[in-house]
Amino acid sequence: MENREECERTIVLRLRPERPIRWEPGQFLMLGISGVDEKPMAFSGGDDREFELTIEIVGPFTERCADLEPGDVVWVRGPYGKPFEVRGSRAVVVAGGTGVAPLVPLVERLRRARVHVTSVLGGPHADRLPRKDDLEKLSDELYVTTEDGSEGRKGFPTDVLEELVEKECPDVVYACGPEGMLVRVAEIAREHDVPCQVSVVRYVKCGEGICGSCALGKGLLVCRDGPVFWTEELEGTEFGGVRRDVTGKPE
Ligand SMILES: Cc1cc2nc3c(=O)[nH]c(=O)nc-3n(C[C@H](O)[C@H](O)[C@H](O)COP(=O)(O)OP(=O)(O)OC[C@H]3O[C@@H](n4cnc5c(N)ncnc54)[C@H](O)[C@@H]3O)c2cc1C
Ligand code: FES
Repeated sequence: MENREECERTIVLRLRPERPIRWEPGQFLMLGISGVDEKPMAFSGGDDREFELTIEIVGPFTERCADLEPGDVVWVRGPYGKPFEVRGSRAVVVAGGTGVAPLVPLVERLRRARVHVTSVLGGPHADRLPRKDDLEKLSDELYVTTEDGSEGRKGFPTDVLEELVEKECPDVVYACGPEGMLVRVAEIAREHDVPCQVSVVRYVKCGEGICGSCALGKGLLVCRDGPVFWTEELEGTEFGGVRRDVTGKPE
């Protein structure tokens, strides 16, 4: 394994599983560290023999991830969930912070399918723009936004998206990031009649559709029916509203 610091409070782990894992952009795995915990993480680049995870340090498990060194053993199970769907010939990809994780391999996949890709990456400031260099290399065009204006345009990725849907007339919008951002992305896409897929986070424990902890309402489970959803599938669910903690109580 390799562990590199990507930007402030974000690392990229490169893992070589004992056996190849066939995964698609948008799917996730359960990453386990013995004696610590196991947590869901999106595939974020590479292939079935050697792949990357982009991890933001937010609590005890991810802090432990940051301490991993070459030679340390972690365990993984997966892949789980439904991937993004490649459609059309022009796409806009919107990433909020670490939400960029599943979008890096998606952009790579779209370009291989000869889809024209315009990406937007947003973060609070210039040191919190994970995988910016990769997105820049892979996309036809990349727009950057920061909340404090320290890099790119001052504001939010959705400000740029509003202009892009008018200018680029994309066939699809793809997004991953904070749920408030995803709600706004879904609104903009709906207003312009553009199909939109978003990757949604809920508390994932089993990852296999058994425990119910990732329920979104209307019978949808993030680990089984998502994490990638067409936005119309999410209408009438808890998306944009309730989020539950490990016990299932609203946060
Ligand atoms: C399908 C999916 C894919 C994900 N992909 C990535 C990724 O590529 N990169 C990344 O940095 N993070 C990703 N996450 C979120 C990541 O799992 C949490 O940040 C991580 O579990 C936090 O653990 P912690 O102990 O460090 O922090 P904690 O202090 O335990 O929690 C910090 C935050 O993470 C949330 N969280 C904790 N455990 C889980 C869990 N089991 N499921 C969902 N949310 C949880 C908490 O609700 C809280 O908001 C993904 C989550 C899901 C559901
Ligand atoms: S995490 Fe158990 S059902 Fe989804």
